[in-house]
Amino acid sequence: MSGFLPLPAADGGMRRARTVDDLGPDELDGQRLLVRVDYNVPLGPNGEVTSAGRIEATLPTLERLGNAGATAVLVSHLGRPEGKRDPAASLAPVARDLSGRLGYEVPLLEAPPGSTELETQVAEIPSGRVALLENIRFHPGETKNDPDLSAALAALAGGFVGEAFGTAHRAHASNVGAAERIRADGGAAVAGLLMAKELHFLKECVAKPERPFVAILGGAKISGKIELIRAILPKVDRLLIGGAMANTFFRALGLETGSSLVEDDRVSMAAELLELGGDTILLPVDCVVADEIREGAETRVADRQEVGPEDRIGDIGPRSTEIFSREVRGAKTILWNGPMGVFELEPFARGTNGLAHVLAERADAGVPVVVGGGDSAAAAEAAGVAERMTHVSTGGGASLDLLAGSELPGVAVLEMVETETG
Ligand code: 3PG
Repeated sequence: MSGFLPLPAADGGMRRARTVDDLGPDELDGQRLLVRVDYNVPLGPNGEVTSAGRIEATLPTLERLGNAGATAVLVSHLGRPEGKRDPAASLAPVARDLSGRLGYEVPLLEAPPGSTELETQVAEIPSGRVALLENIRFHPGETKNDPDLSAALAALAGGFVGEAFGTAHRAHASNVGAAERIRADGGAAVAGLLMAKELHFLKECVAKPERPFVAILGGAKISGKIELIRAILPKVDRLLIGGAMANTFFRALGLETGSSLVEDDRVSMAAELLELGGDTILLPVDCVVADEIREGAETRVADRQEVGPEDRIGDIGPRSTEIFSREVRGAKTILWNGPMGVFELEPFARGTNGLAHVLAERADAGVPVVVGGGDSAAAAEAAGVAERMTHVSTGGGASLDLLAGSELPGVAVLEMVETETG
């Protein structure tokens, strides 16, 4: 695991998060660890888990801990129940799903942190096994990083494992306060294997890319991605911009965008970014337009100068897909964040799907292809190529913040070690 998350240290050396692989047998065998996971997964109409990627991604860590004789108290949130108990946000379906994957029943512990009942239940978890606490956001102290809730969670274990990459941009009691408390009491606070992998691909790979390094950004709005664009521009050889985000750039170029989604208050910012980016930024040259963005809509391909006042842009056009694909085929490191169009609707899915397949070919050829979470993960999934990508992040907001250069509170709280490569 050495080589994960090297960060420049003040003395010029390199540091990375300490991980579960760095824990000694005395820190694992017979020990109880608080493991913050992000099981904020979508549920179907019958309360079943409909996409278990975030659960599956934690299995290597759980197996590692179990094999080393540690017990794990898993903590997660689900949705935003705002400090109140809400049966629709119960983690019961997740406990069932996890039980199926681990091959034994994972108990869902509903007693509140700080109660003797919970402390007794936790003490009874058999060695090498896991139990899951009920949704931690049922408690108002969670999102306030409340010290009492942090202390109550910390009292359940002697060490902490930060495995909730998707939540790492939040400073909450279960992923920051409890870890600080455990460290203050002399316990370990290390990254899980998923967390380490996310940091490796979203931080190290992007900081030291093999060139040419091509980033593809898309999605509806530039407002949430301005920091990302600013941070990534100086690092990339090409920045390809698609999705409705490109419309705001079109407007900055003085082009007609019809009734397409445009962020009027960001047009001058887009102009500034175009100025800053120069030749590095490539915008679509053609678009798929319709009078409405809906399933079954009649579409037409228009050059970007030919978009009419009645048109709505729903996807990048075939020439743009070809130009973007050519850039991707020449790249040695690729980052993808955000779809090229409204990929959920068949008439507007071609640009995203086409590019996703070219990205998968590059990943098959051994080029690192890193896919930011959220919409891009869903788009890779819809195109049927998610499995082929080098890494698909489990974090949406967290991956955006990390790529934009922010320090994530859920990472900052973990122990760091010097790397051998430093
Ligand atoms: C996510 O799904 O992005 C994470 O679980 C964080 O959830 P939140 O945005 O409700 O904090």
